[in-house]
Amino acid sequence: MVKLWRCEICGDPYIGDNPPDNCPFCGAHKKYIKEAKEAKVNFTVELNEKDKANAEHALQVEVSNSAFYFCAAEKTDDAEGKLLFKALGKIEAEHATVWRKILRLDSVPKGNESCHTSNKENLEDSHARETRAIDFYKKAASESANERVRQIFEALVEVEIDHLHLSEERLRK
Ligand SMILES: [Fe+2]
Ligand SMILES: [Fe+2]
Ligand SMILES: [Zn+2]
Repeated sequence: MVKLWRCEICGDPYIGDNPPDNCPFCGAHKKYIKEAKEAKVNFTVELNEKDKANAEHALQVEVSNSAFYFCAAEKTDDAEGKLLFKALGKIEAEHATVWRKILRLDSVPKGNESCHTSNKENLEDSHARETRAIDFYKKAASESANERVRQIFEALVEVEIDHLHLSEERLRK
């Protein structure tokens, strides 16, 4: 029997027999996916100055990474690479939306990034971007006194580590 699920990180709903292993929208791990009526999703958070600055930086990071991945999905010279970068672009765009909601903005700023035709160079760029995102999110999580903000930073650390593994696996070949 299909059920309605909801991700507690991005708040998006999903219909399926079972909860997905990763949120199809933001990539959050299974522990954050609950039956919709039981999911706790809150985007009305009182931000202190530090959390606000970190959320604003996170928004910029996600907008930039999402623009990079959509560029790479068009330009990269590898068929599987195109699919990978498209999937990553959509997930980073969802992350930007999470921060837009936390910051109570009406829209997400538009990104403008360059990318490469060489798939290997795109994978290397991806690896560097994900490493920076992970380091930043870890630091931001440790700096936050707000439970919800910390939950999002910690969940996104896990997701960006998954992304790092995808480029590492392909760069090893
Ligand atoms: Fe992200
Ligand atoms: Fe990522
Ligand atoms: Zn999600």
